[in-house]
Amino acid sequence: MTELILGQVLSYAGDPFAAGLSAARVLTQGAVAIDGSHITAVGEAGDLRARYPQARIHDHGAKLISAGFIDAHVHYPQTAIIASWGKRLIDWLNSYTFPEEMRFSDPAYAAEIANRYLDLVLARGTTTVSTYATIHPASVDAIFTAAQTRGMRLFAGKTCMDRNAPEGLRDTARSAYDDSKALLEKWHGRDRLSYVITPRFSPTSTPEQLQALGALWREYPDCLMQTHLSEQTDEIAWVKDLFPQSRDYLDTYEAQGLLREGAVYGHAIHLTDRERARLIETGASLVHCPTSNTFIGSGLFDMTLANSLRVGLATDTGGGSNFSMLHTMAAAYEVAQLRGQSLHPAQLWWLATQGSARALHCEDRIGNLVTGLEADLVVIDLASTPAIEQATRRAEDLWQELFPTIMMGDDRAVAEVWVGGKRLPG
Ligand code: GUN
Ligand code: ZN
Repeated sequence: MTELILGQVLSYAGDPFAAGLSAARVLTQGAVAIDGSHITAVGEAGDLRARYPQARIHDHGAKLISAGFIDAHVHYPQTAIIASWGKRLIDWLNSYTFPEEMRFSDPAYAAEIANRYLDLVLARGTTTVSTYATIHPASVDAIFTAAQTRGMRLFAGKTCMDRNAPEGLRDTARSAYDDSKALLEKWHGRDRLSYVITPRFSPTSTPEQLQALGALWREYPDCLMQTHLSEQTDEIAWVKDLFPQSRDYLDTYEAQGLLREGAVYGHAIHLTDRERARLIETGASLVHCPTSNTFIGSGLFDMTLANSLRVGLATDTGGGSNFSMLHTMAAAYEVAQLRGQSLHPAQLWWLATQGSARALHCEDRIGNLVTGLEADLVVIDLASTPAIEQATRRAEDLWQELFPTIMMGDDRAVAEVWVGGKRLPG
C-alpha cells in the first residue's frame, strides 16, 4: 500500500553552502509517496494524488515534511548525565562521564539506557545517530539491538581506551582490536546498522592502540572511523605532551592510519593551518557540536570549513546540553553569529539532515526527500507553541515561517516521525 504524506515538502537538490540557497526545494503543497521502506516519489500533492489514487493519505496541511534529523556525534551512554553542572572537558570526563560509563559493565543497564535514549531522540525527530558506546562490548550490542527493534539506520562502535581512564574502563591495544573486530563482524551491514571503529581520542589511547585500530580499519575499509579532534586548548596541550613526536593533534591519528575519507572527527575547533589543509586534502569529515562547545566552554567552530569539507551537525549528548537537533541548529546559528558568519535556515536544516548524512557517507540512503532514498521522515508543526505561532504570522516564505521553530522549537514541534517507511505510534 502506498502511503502519501502531504504538506510543505523541503528537499535539497544540492549543498546550499556550495550551490547557494537555490539548492533548497520547497513544495508548498507537496507530497511524498512511500512504498514499503523507501520513497517512491516526491512532487506536487495534486500530481501524486492523481498518480496514486489508491494511496493512504496523511494530510498535514501546512506542516513541514522533511527528512528525519541525523545526529552525527553522540555518546548514548551519557544520556543520564546530560546537563550536569560545571567543569571543563577533562574534569567533566573524570567527574561525570567515566563514573557513568562504568555502569555499562551491567548489560541490563546498557539496554535500559539504549532504549531510553532512542525513544528520547525519536520523539525529537532524530531518526539516525552515530554513537560512541562504552568500552564494554555489551554496550554496543545494546544500542544496535535497540535500533534494530525500531528499524533505525544507526552507526555505533565500542569506545576504545587503554590509558588515562580509570580501572574498569580500560582495554588494551589487543583487546580493543579483537573486541572491535568481533562486533564489526557481528553487526556491520546487518539490517540498517553500521559499525564504526571508535578510538575515544588520542589522550586515552596509546600509539599502539591507535595503530591496532588503524590496522583494523585497513581490513574493513568501507567502515567509518570516529573520534575527537582539537576540542579544547588544554586537551591539545595534553596531546602535545603525550605525543612529542607528532606534528600536531591530527598527526597522532594520521601516523597510525586513522586519517582518510571515512574518518569522522568531532569538534575540530582549534585547528592549525596544516591540520585544515590535511583534512581538506584527505576528504575527512568534521562534526560540529555547538551546544557541547558552548556548554563545556570549548570554543567556536569555523563554519567556513563547510565550503571545503563534509561537515555534519550533532548534539554530542551528553557533553551537549540538549537531545534536540532543533535546539542544536539554534546553537549553530548563534555560534556562527559570534564568528561573524550568518547561517541561513536552509543551511542549518541541511546540516541537520543531508550535511550529517554526507559526513557519515550515507547520503545515498538517508538525509533527503528524493525518490529511492529510505523513508525516514519528520513532520514539523511550524506553530507548535503560542510563542512560535505569533512569531510566524507575518512570514512571507518558508524560511521566515521556519526560523522561529529552529530558534524556539522543541519536541512539541515534532508532529510525526517515520522510520524506514513506518509511522511511529505517538
Ligand atoms: N573527548 C573525549 N571524550 C569525550 C566525550 O565523551 N565528550 C566530549 N565532549 N569530548 C570528549
Ligand atoms: Zn563526543
